[in-house]
Amino acid sequence: MNAGTGEAPRFTPVWDLFVRIFHWSVAAAFGAAYVSSDDGGTVHHVLGYAVLALVALRIAWGFVGSYHARFTNFVPSPREFAQYSRAMRAGRERRYLGHNPAGAVMIIALLILLTATGATGWLLTTNVFWGSEAVEALHEASANAILVCVVLHVGGVLLTSWRHRENLVGAMLTGRKRND
Ligand code: HEM
Ligand code: HEM
Repeated sequence: MNAGTGEAPRFTPVWDLFVRIFHWSVAAAFGAAYVSSDDGGTVHHVLGYAVLALVALRIAWGFVGSYHARFTNFVPSPREFAQYSRAMRAGRERRYLGHNPAGAVMIIALLILLTATGATGWLLTTNVFWGSEAVEALHEASANAILVCVVLHVGGVLLTSWRHRENLVGAMLTGRKRND
């Protein structure tokens, strides 16, 4: 029931099928690439390239995809981000149907770090950088930075779900969110 109105809540499609498949595939491929990283072998390479391919598709979808998937509809200006962060600290941030500005900045950071990790991993297989300690260090550092970001990302999702009394994880599965 909607508080005050006595009406049942209405739901609206927010995350399209591509975004949902992308999300859970990239989470699984990243996790598996990380876990299989000790030997840096074929399985690890294939999983890493899968992450790169998924991210490339997601970036293209950010230009041509559905409304809430498009970068122009969720990447905030520095001012919007600062305002949202201030409102969050004061406990009075507004609810967004699509990504909120803090979540959006994290998403951009994740897409950049996933690309950097995949690209440095690929470099390690080339003649020029094979065995390069510097590239290896970059590859490992960016993979670990993703891990830290994912912890913050999931923390942000849980915090926002609690603050606005909604299940954002469920929304990333069904694609639908309460429309007010
Ligand atoms: C169990 C772990 C995870 C949960 C519960 C989770 C949950 C979510 C949710 C609910 C959203 C939508 C946020 C919103 O409402 O604005 C989201 C978006 C996103 N998450 Fe996760 N996530 C998880 C793991 C990951 C991992 C491992 C990655 C990448 C390494 C990742 C990358 C992203 C990206 C890129 C988006 C933006 C989706 C898009 O617009 O295409 N997530 N996540
Ligand atoms: C984006 C997903 C990826 C993640 C999360 C990831 C993660 C990691 C991590 C954490 C290590 C360090 C393992 C250790 O020394 O304990 C590693 C090593 C390695 N990765 Fe990746 N990687 C990814 C993609 C790739 C790709 C696309 C390739 C190449 C095709 C690749 C090739 C390698 C190689 C050759 C090593 C071994 C380096 C060494 O000798 O220490 N990785 N990876």
